[in-house]
Amino acid sequence: MNVLECTEVTKRFGGVVALDGVSFTVQEAEIVGLVGPNGSGKTTLLSCIAGSLRATSGSIDFRGAEITRATPNRRARAGIARTFQVPKPLGSFTVVENVATAFMFGRDKLSRIEGLKRGLRVLQEVGLQAHADREVSALTLHERKFLEIARALALDPQLILLDEVLGGLNPSEAAEGMALIGSLRERGVSVVYIEHNVQAVASLADRMYVLNQGRNLAEGSAQEVLADPAVIAAYLGGDVDA
Ligand SMILES: Nc1ncnc2c1ncn2[C@@H]1O[C@H](COP(=O)(O)OP(=O)(O)OP(=O)(O)O)[C@@H](O)[C@H]1O
Ligand SMILES: [Mg+2]
Repeated sequence: MNVLECTEVTKRFGGVVALDGVSFTVQEAEIVGLVGPNGSGKTTLLSCIAGSLRATSGSIDFRGAEITRATPNRRARAGIARTFQVPKPLGSFTVVENVATAFMFGRDKLSRIEGLKRGLRVLQEVGLQAHADREVSALTLHERKFLEIARALALDPQLILLDEVLGGLNPSEAAEGMALIGSLRERGVSVVYIEHNVQAVASLADRMYVLNQGRNLAEGSAQEVLADPAVIAAYLGGDVDA
């Protein structure tokens, strides 16, 4: 069953057509990789799915209900969580408080004490429990990225949208991140995974989409997509050894 179904989604910013009739589906417990050159529309598609941007036209269905024009809050309550390409933690809060807010102000409206307790549990899942009481501003990039994942997980999502969560990490940190993303699938969560490192995406994704200049360029298994001449051409001169 499709958890997410985007049909002919177009997004214009004034004269700029960031997405031009993009179709995109995600199934239950599936990791879908989303790649494409800089400016191809990946983040814009994620924002249209999460609701921080509204599609100009086309439709987006989540678990069988149309959400094309729903508020970001409604989508979050329905089970969609995202991370941001540039982490957006609450700077003056501690690490565990950052995760606790998702429990206190999210679907469950838990008390502060209960929120902190649940927050600690999520930090354990992403390996940040030792940093629970630190100020977020003291975290390294690697820790901030994992905190982004923890904040998304705290929403107990059915679908998690990851925008370059491993960008800028060293190989061992990235490997840790990939294991974490792989474990989401085992919990039955669906994942949309954007990363510039196409090989990293290919190694994790059940299926991949390639966008180019706001349009669908290719879709299929990692093997199919990486062998597609159109995909290779789109990346020529880029930073990818597809
Ligand atoms: N808020 C905005 N206002 C105007 N144009 C925008 C806005 N957001 C994105 N764009 C434009 O839309 C296009 C797609 O941008 P988007 O950020 O979705 O690409 P991307 O694939 O995520 O790129 P990157 O790999 O660099 O993160 C680009 O041409 C970008 O300049
Ligand atoms: Mg982007």
